[in-house]
Amino acid sequence: MFRKLIRASLFAALGMTAVLLAYGSVTASPAADEKLPDISEIMKKGHNKTEGYVAKINAAVKDGKWEDAQKYAKTLAFFGENLGKNKPPKGDAASWKKLTDKYAESTKAALKATDDKDAKALKAALNINCKACHDAHK
Ligand code: HEC
Repeated sequence: MFRKLIRASLFAALGMTAVLLAYGSVTASPAADEKLPDISEIMKKGHNKTEGYVAKINAAVKDGKWEDAQKYAKTLAFFGENLGKNKPPKGDAASWKKLTDKYAESTKAALKATDDKDAKALKAALNINCKACHDAHK
């Protein structure tokens, strides 16, 4: 009986998490009380060589799994929208705005490319100039 109860609440918690995750990725905008992802989190989750969203998008496309690619691209685009809301460790504000706007555009274009199942456009969108921004702001 007790164990059943625990299991039920565990499922409820999992369900809530799934709903929250789905909400975040579909609308590409956080709930009011959701914390802004910081630069480090965006970089690690977005661009880790094997576990990052870019790697996941590319792997999914390689397997012809466009729906998975689209799901990852949604989160990447959400990160893209939020990067510029952070304050970089160094560099001037105008340059940060320009480069983060560009990053937001690229990640948005990547999402559109997965919507269109367009591998060429996806590759172009994900050709992000990491170094330009790191040199100025990291
Ligand atoms: C618009 C600016 C911008 C772009 C574009 C950008 N980065 Fe970054 N990245 C940063 C900043 C700023 C930091 C430093 C964050 C800090 O120290 O708080 C950073 C840090 C990182 C880190 C270290 C994260 C950590 O805390 O361990 C990695 C890894 C990284 N970036 C990968 C990439 C890769 C790969 C690309 C290109 C595909 C890229 N970044 C493009 C701004 C950018």
